[in-house]
Amino acid sequence: MSKKNLNVGIVGYGFMGRTHANAFRKVVNFFDLPYTPVLKAACGRDEEKLKAYCDRWGWESSETDWRKLIERKDIDIIDICTPNDSHAEIAIAAARAGKMVMCEKPLSMDGPQGEEMVREIEKAGVANMVWYNYRRVPAVTFAKQLIDEGRLGRIFHYRAKFLQDWTISAELPQGGAGLWRLDAAAAGSGVTGDLLAHCIDTALWLNGNMDSVSAMTETFIKQRTHSLTGQVQEVKIDDACAFLARFGNGSLATFESTRYARGHKALYTLEINGENASIAWDLHDLHRLQYFDHRDRGNLRGWRSIHVTDGDHPYMSKWWVPGLQIGYEHTFVHQVADFIEGVGSGQFASPTFRDALETQYVCDAVLDSAKTGQWRDVKHA
Ligand SMILES: NC(=O)c1ccc[n+]([C@@H]2O[C@H](COP(=O)([O-])OP(=O)(O)OC[C@H]3O[C@@H](n4cnc5c(N)ncnc54)[C@H](O)[C@@H]3O)[C@@H](O)[C@H]2O)c1
Repeated sequence: MSKKNLNVGIVGYGFMGRTHANAFRKVVNFFDLPYTPVLKAACGRDEEKLKAYCDRWGWESSETDWRKLIERKDIDIIDICTPNDSHAEIAIAAARAGKMVMCEKPLSMDGPQGEEMVREIEKAGVANMVWYNYRRVPAVTFAKQLIDEGRLGRIFHYRAKFLQDWTISAELPQGGAGLWRLDAAAAGSGVTGDLLAHCIDTALWLNGNMDSVSAMTETFIKQRTHSLTGQVQEVKIDDACAFLARFGNGSLATFESTRYARGHKALYTLEINGENASIAWDLHDLHRLQYFDHRDRGNLRGWRSIHVTDGDHPYMSKWWVPGLQIGYEHTFVHQVADFIEGVGSGQFASPTFRDALETQYVCDAVLDSAKTGQWRDVKHA
């Protein structure tokens, strides 16, 4: 019996437009799903680039206005891969039209806008998810299993950082294609909403709610030419952010992110220390989970480097044979698989819009704390 199709309409053909197209294409080859995603239509504003994208990735049709895409009766899912300032408008319109919505992270520009998105999506009752893809690195998912099994015991510390080095040059403009991340009007914030949002999402998932934060931020280069206006304009994003946090479970945490750490391209690392065991993970070595268990016999105690590639590790039975690695792009394949499973079962896969709003609240508290120099309580979704 042939499975029902779910027709996807994607908005944006940049970096994420490519990772998502790749995931929608590949997922059916590896996962048995209740529905088959179909690359039905792609939307972008530049017709020539859009055509090249559709031809390369196999999208059946195209639209140059996302509103037209949402109006189409043959589209079931709207997938949002545009800069942050457009997420809310597109997601709300899609929800009102009864479409399922997959939205890139961060959910919104800030908490209040995220609240509106959650209200609309829940009122529409449609399946929804935000692409915090690092939850679906098998080693990170495995860490979640170990924590949920209680292996670490009481958690004392959570530590995460996300370091890059691509904005150090003062000659780099802000705004426009690719550089919208440096323009607060398009991005909402700098490293806090871009990189730390990933660290925060993973942390909330692994370690529960955060209660309060104390942060500092810095904008190292105060003015940059804006690509769209040609004018030298004030830079309003945070180039670097470090914050302390207290979690609801009593653990203490440190988070750090910058785009000024020379030599680091995408160094996302996390470590959790519990009373019985600790775990550590590093995106540059993403298929390994470091695990230390104090209950091991004393003279054998030490950090284990677990190669998370075996059939009984999360997601890995779907891929090749034990010992063979998968990578970054597969996290998006896993996310599509879980989303479609959720549509089938009616239990929407996380993070939902509401889950992602929790991350937005942490980001708001972090930025407010940095501005005021005060500890800030975190609102809960
Ligand atoms: N999950 C992750 O790991 C991850 C990684 C990178 C980016 N992101 C998120 O994905 C989103 C997109 O980032 P990106 O790196 O792909 O950016 P990008 O600049 O590479 O691509 C953005 C795309 O959106 C298009 N676009 C902008 N406004 C549009 C509009 N009004 N209508 C139609 N198309 C429009 C642009 O033309 C471009 O194709 C952002 O929210 C970003 O935070 C997530």
